[in-house]
Amino acid sequence: MTDSNYPEEVYANLRAECEQIVARYPQARSALGPMLHLIQSYDGYVSPRGVAMCAEVLGITRAEVSAVATFYSQYRRRPNGEYNVGVCTNALCAVLGGDIIYETLSEELGVGHTETTEDGKITLEALECNAACDYAPVVMVNWEFFDNQTPASAMRIVNDIRDGKPVRPTRGPETVGTFKEISRVLAGFEDGRAAEGVAAGEASLLGLKLARERDWTAPREDESGAADPQAGTENVGEYGSSADHDGREGDAK
Ligand code: FES
Repeated sequence: MTDSNYPEEVYANLRAECEQIVARYPQARSALGPMLHLIQSYDGYVSPRGVAMCAEVLGITRAEVSAVATFYSQYRRRPNGEYNVGVCTNALCAVLGGDIIYETLSEELGVGHTETTEDGKITLEALECNAACDYAPVVMVNWEFFDNQTPASAMRIVNDIRDGKPVRPTRGPETVGTFKEISRVLAGFEDGRAAEGVAAGEASLLGLKLARERDWTAPREDESGAADPQAGTENVGEYGSSADHDGREGDAK
């Protein structure tokens, strides 16, 4: 018996996929985050019937589901546009042009923060830092990176979306999936595109390159576990730490 209000076949598929997610975790309620992304992949937002489904599968209340769904900004309480265009307006991006990019897009699209164009194509969002400051100012379309943007280049992105043309991010897959498609990936159902395109770009790797050229390494920990700035001068190779190298970390010998 369900009160989640999905057509029978949709209900059966969604329920089976929710249970696949639950099976990944030692505790069922840990599955709620990806389940909410899965609901978005079906409904385009965290719908009331999706909330009911999550509560039913996990044996928790709808209020508990809603408490999580309303806490994290990637979960939508209203139907999202097919493409979520997020402009970083955090400090670094803002001073390098993020504020102007956001204002330009807002004026052109006729929508404000988290509002959706009338045709349902684009939801505009002012984002906090996307951890891509080395490519500021950054725009994200359905969480894919468009680096080093200008008002003109951001306008080209939204115009291509409105014209139904595929848009290609600077890094990541060769084209951006729809909000529903990306939500399914975030729920843990892979689309087979993880190896497409550029991964870490040159600016992100520059610090690592300089450290290797100059033989810099992270400081070792002292006996109390604190970083010892006088130690740790050995180069221990790719991604290793001094602690990994000499076995001191968490080791009483
Ligand atoms: S401030 Fe924009 S990505 Fe960090």
